[in-house]
Amino acid sequence: MNSVHKIFSLLSILLIMSSLAIAQSKVGEHALGTIPYEKFQKPELCGAACHADIYMQWRQAMMSQSYTHHWDEIEYFELAVPHAEKDPVVAGVKAGCNGCHAPVSFLAGDVPPPRPEKMSRANEGVSCDLCHSVTGFEGDVPYNFNWTVQPGEVKYGSRGTGKSPEHKMQKSEFLASGDFCGTCHNEMSPYGIWVKSTHLEWKEGPYFKQGVKCHDCHMTYAPGYSAAMGTKYPDVRQHLFHGAHDPGKVRGTIELRVHPSVKEAEPGEKVVFTVALFNQKTGHKFPSGSVEDRIVWMHVEATDAKGNVYHLPVDKKGFPGEEYTIGADVLAYQDMGIAKGIDNFPGVQRDGIPVGDRIFRMPYFDPQGRMTIQQWNTKSLGVDYRIGPRETKLETITFNLPSNLPLGELKVRAVLNFQKLVKPVAEFLKVPAEEAEIIVVNDHSTSINIVD
Ligand code: HEC
Ligand code: HEC
Ligand code: HEC
Ligand code: HEC
Repeated sequence: MNSVHKIFSLLSILLIMSSLAIAQSKVGEHALGTIPYEKFQKPELCGAACHADIYMQWRQAMMSQSYTHHWDEIEYFELAVPHAEKDPVVAGVKAGCNGCHAPVSFLAGDVPPPRPEKMSRANEGVSCDLCHSVTGFEGDVPYNFNWTVQPGEVKYGSRGTGKSPEHKMQKSEFLASGDFCGTCHNEMSPYGIWVKSTHLEWKEGPYFKQGVKCHDCHMTYAPGYSAAMGTKYPDVRQHLFHGAHDPGKVRGTIELRVHPSVKEAEPGEKVVFTVALFNQKTGHKFPSGSVEDRIVWMHVEATDAKGNVYHLPVDKKGFPGEEYTIGADVLAYQDMGIAKGIDNFPGVQRDGIPVGDRIFRMPYFDPQGRMTIQQWNTKSLGVDYRIGPRETKLETITFNLPSNLPLGELKVRAVLNFQKLVKPVAEFLKVPAEEAEIIVVNDHSTSINIVD
């Protein structure tokens, strides 16, 4: 090849590369800094007169608090950002967290955005105009904010039929699909692990097959107006987005029934109690989403005729990784020491619940194989012992009745509890107590007669 040829082919390679770069520049991590703040309208404008009702619903949902919520602020500024500055493998999360949590700031290239108290546009969180400017996604699987977005005069939405003095409208099949939600509700860690997979769980489950979408449970239909001066419709999408932060949504998710192996028993005998846990409500697994933070556990107690209380641990089943699904007195989460600058950090209690209780969870492990709540530092996953949509799990509890057990009624009660964030982590990071509040998902009781 002569030198002219060489220069020519080099130029064409450069040209191809730069056009590829332009094509990709708008999606996922490549979209950083590509769209200035001014291109997006503020939620206050949408909510001022026209969409006041939807605006108030959105304000109440976590969607509007995805940047300002206390635990988000703590995890981003006190763990993720310092960790990203120390470890090149996870350096990308300094900007990347905001691709889902403060997308308008991510697009504007504002990294890290000012703290919430500074009242910057990051505080808009997942805003009206961000969602209503999304046109589709790139790739085969929606994840890591790989939506394509085109802010401007046209707002994409449900109908595209009404008239607005403010903007044009276009009906979007994409916004109406679960894939749209998946662009932010599936997340892959820098180690290539699915650390959030709500959309993938839904796609594998029974609801997707029956055409039930995310929207049908989180943006339900109700009659009314979608804009103050618009038409009345029988089916306006409510912007509820209620999930783990709504005790009412969580309550009743799992139905419990406990039954004994016998109606009567004598002191000293062995009685088995079986608990059936049926997932009646979620379209994905329970828990889903921020699985690394969540803990769902079953506590079983017996009360004898004299009021003495016995804590009954669950029977082991013997599957690999089961030790992570039974409450234990062990330490974990040592990798918080990296961001916190604590050498040889011993960790904090893994569970913070009674030893022996069954936990429905999937553990996340850091590159050293230790359990972590830092989903971005996750290199592998443990056993998935969550309760799938419409799945029933059976647990047994064997009670060796004490020889001095008083005669009369012995009551047994099973309670299923949910915590958004394991309590020892919440206490260590000084996350407000409400994030570790115990929500009772459900309970059920039975009794047997103690005879001689
Ligand atoms: C997380 C993304 C998201 C956010 C944030 C969001 N929306 Fe929506 N919006 C949707 C989706 C999805 C639909 C329904 C699409 C469908 O079912 O066809 C919708 C529907 C609508 C509709 C049409 C309702 C109807 O049934 O006629 C209006 C109006 C609307 N949104 C306004 C707003 C306003 C105003 C805000 C901010 C206060 C907002 N949206 C925030 C995703 C979002
Ligand atoms: C641009 C990204 C994005 C899109 C698109 C998106 N979400 Fe979200 N969503 C989030 C973030 C971020 C949060 C977490 C807020 C927090 O807790 O910090 C969230 C929170 C939620 C919650 C509340 C969970 C809880 O813990 O209480 C629900 C429910 C939810 N989203 C449903 C949906 C549905 C349904 C769709 C599709 C119609 C959707 N989301 C689309 C980013 C998104
Ligand atoms: C059949 C109804 C149903 C469908 C379909 C459904 N969800 Fe849920 N979802 C629920 C219920 C009930 C909860 C509350 C229990 C819980 O926290 O998991 C919930 C919780 C959530 C949470 C909080 C999870 C947690 O534990 O932190 C998110 C996020 C969420 N849903 C998003 C979605 C998305 C995205 C889709 C579609 C891919 C979807 N949901 C489909 C019923 C549903
Ligand atoms: C691909 C999108 C995406 C990315 C990237 C992402 N998140 Fe999230 N995050 C979500 C969604 C969606 C939820 C809500 C899930 C749920 O409610 O279970 C969430 C929830 C959270 C929560 C709230 C959990 C709770 O119980 O309230 C925190 C804190 C959080 N994320 C921090 C971060 C940090 C820090 C990063 C960067 C290391 C990050 N997120 C990256 C989508 C994302």
